[in-house]
Amino acid sequence: MDFDKSKVTINIMNLNDLDQISDCLQNEFDDFWTYDILKDELSSKNSIYLVAKTDTQIIGFAGFKTIFDEAELMNIIVRKSFRNCGIGNLLMENILLELKNRKIATVHLEVAKNNISAIHLYQKFGFYEVGLRKNYYKDTDAILMELTIN
Ligand SMILES: CC(C)(COP(=O)(O)OP(=O)(O)OC[C@H]1O[C@@H](n2cnc3c(N)ncnc32)[C@H](O)[C@@H]1OP(=O)(O)O)[C@@H](O)C(=O)NCCC(=O)NCCS
Repeated sequence: MDFDKSKVTINIMNLNDLDQISDCLQNEFDDFWTYDILKDELSSKNSIYLVAKTDTQIIGFAGFKTIFDEAELMNIIVRKSFRNCGIGNLLMENILLELKNRKIATVHLEVAKNNISAIHLYQKFGFYEVGLRKNYYKDTDAILMELTIN
C-alpha cells in the first residue's frame, strides 16, 4: 500500500481508541485478543499500550506489562491492509523507547513458531530465542524470546 508513513502518529492507547476498533477487531486485526481482554489490559496499571493512527483510522497497537524492571510484550498487531508498510517497525521502536524510559532491563515474549513475520520483526530488534514450549498453541509450539535493554 502506498501511504505516507510520516503522517502516522503513535500515542498511548486508551478506551476510546479500543471502542473505535471494537467492531473490526476480529476481522481487520487478529482474532486472538478479544475486546474484553484488551479492555482489562488497558485498565491495568502495569500495562502500557501504544496505538498507531492515520488521520482517519487506527492501524495498529502494541502493549506490554511491567513487573519491577522486567516486561512482557503482550502483543503487537497491525491492521491487515496496512501490514508490510513499516507500522510494526514503528510500533516496536516506540515500545522500546517506552521500556527504556521506564528503566526496564529485560523484555520477554512468546510467539507461535509458525508466525514467521512476527519472529522476523522480533529478531530484527535484537530478541533472541531462550526456550520452547512444545505444543503450546493448538497447532504449533511457542518460542520464548528475550531482549536485554541497555
Ligand atoms: C507481525 C506484524 C505486527 C508485523 O507488522 P508489519 O507492519 O507488517 O511489519 P513491518 O512492515 O514494519 O515490518 C517489520 C519487520 O517485520 C518482519 N516482517 C514483516 N512482515 C513479514 C513477512 N511477511 N515475512 C517475513 N518477515 C516479515 C521483517 O523483519 C520486517 O523488517 P524489514 O521491513 O526490514 O524487512 C504483523 O504481521 C501482524 O500484525 N501480525 C498479526 C499479529 C501477530 O501475529 N502479532 C505478533 C504476535 S503477538
